[in-house]
Amino acid sequence: MKYTSARGTRDILPDESGVWRKFIKRITEILINFGYEEIQTPIFEQVELFQRAVGDTTDIIEKEMYVFKDKGDRNLALRPEGTASIVRAYLQNMNYFQKRKLNKLFYCGPMFRYERPQTGRYRQFHQIGVEAIGSQSPYLDVETMIMGVQIFTELGLPDVSIAVHSVGCDVCRPVIRERIKSFVESILPNLCEDCKSRFHKNPLRILDCKNHSCQNFFMGMPEMVSALCKECNDHFLSVINCLEENGVNHTVDNHLVRGLDYYTKTVFEIRSNLLGAQNAICGGGRYDNLIHELGGRKTPAFGFAIGLDRLYIVLNELGLTKSVEGLLKFMIIGLGNKGLDQAFSLAIKLRRENIATELFMKDGSINEGLKEALLVKARYAVIIGEDETEGNFFTVKDLRGKKQFKIFSVNELITLDN
Ligand code: HAM
Repeated sequence: MKYTSARGTRDILPDESGVWRKFIKRITEILINFGYEEIQTPIFEQVELFQRAVGDTTDIIEKEMYVFKDKGDRNLALRPEGTASIVRAYLQNMNYFQKRKLNKLFYCGPMFRYERPQTGRYRQFHQIGVEAIGSQSPYLDVETMIMGVQIFTELGLPDVSIAVHSVGCDVCRPVIRERIKSFVESILPNLCEDCKSRFHKNPLRILDCKNHSCQNFFMGMPEMVSALCKECNDHFLSVINCLEENGVNHTVDNHLVRGLDYYTKTVFEIRSNLLGAQNAICGGGRYDNLIHELGGRKTPAFGFAIGLDRLYIVLNELGLTKSVEGLLKFMIIGLGNKGLDQAFSLAIKLRRENIATELFMKDGSINEGLKEALLVKARYAVIIGEDETEGNFFTVKDLRGKKQFKIFSVNELITLDN
């Protein structure tokens, strides 16, 4: 093979794509029911946007960004995540967004991170993300998390549970940082080089280390929530109470800090044990400072992103990716010159009526045409051979029931049950 897809990227072939389309449609319906509207932003942005938003000392910025210069010598990066772009778009289109107190936006598309590829971890992966900009209410946190749970439950995942935590705010973060530092100091010689450098630059990030041996050393870490300031603690308690009152499965995960620096207060993840090491299928939280840090007024916000590639793996493990129905109603098979001409015209007529129709373009055997019809999962095959052209009828084969019958008009074809 002369050319193959770049390491960490893959082709999503039509069968899998059909399943993706189905579940993206269902997810989108749920988001719209919760008041979200779609936004589309460019796949590349200025490097500095991500550096400022995600944080200079995160893995994403230090090691994983696809950075390039364009012909105008601009420093650009393929987006490693969606939140920074949405906030940039929000600020750039303030005239549009300022009319509302709360803007609820969703997006769907590829993201790029130069990570070590493994199951569930790719260099080009896909997210559906949501960002609700303009409310500091803990109800927003819980509403958004409930929406995440509802999405996974409706797609068929059993026992969906949220891991939730708080990373505090500018007031209490220094206290949290010191707590982590004083705990980590004694185990520092046992930790990896990344952890050692994070100890000085960004101690919270230590908890995010992907190295198993480091994770084992973090077991006895004191809980951070007791270091929260009053405002963050009240917020955290409201979130936990609201989750409990509404019967949402959750656990408080004392080590959850997330891999991006913009979070304040609530952070959460939804995980699946069907995934192995890369077990988060959804992650997010509150980011009350980001909009201000990127040049706007202080505006609270909350969001999450679902990893579609990982979601597919989980649904596949559960056997929920098999039953995609065919999308075509008809496969038209013409035989002989006259039959082929009529088949072509019929296909055009049906498509003008917006009926999903495929034309078997090869003159030859009916069997080959029928085989193709089954492969593309058409509902009916319509055969137009010599008998049919002379007798002015179509032979229709029901590919599900295997019955065969004659039909005498295009209108009758159009109204056949799907
Ligand atoms: P994140 O946790 O970095 O958060 O990514 C969200 C989800 O994307 C992960 O839970 C995972 O399912 C998927 N994901 C991340 N990296 C990869 C990868 N290399 N391969 C496959 N899937 C991956 C964010 O991106 C935040 N922007 C979420 C957010 C929105 N927070 C607030 N608003």
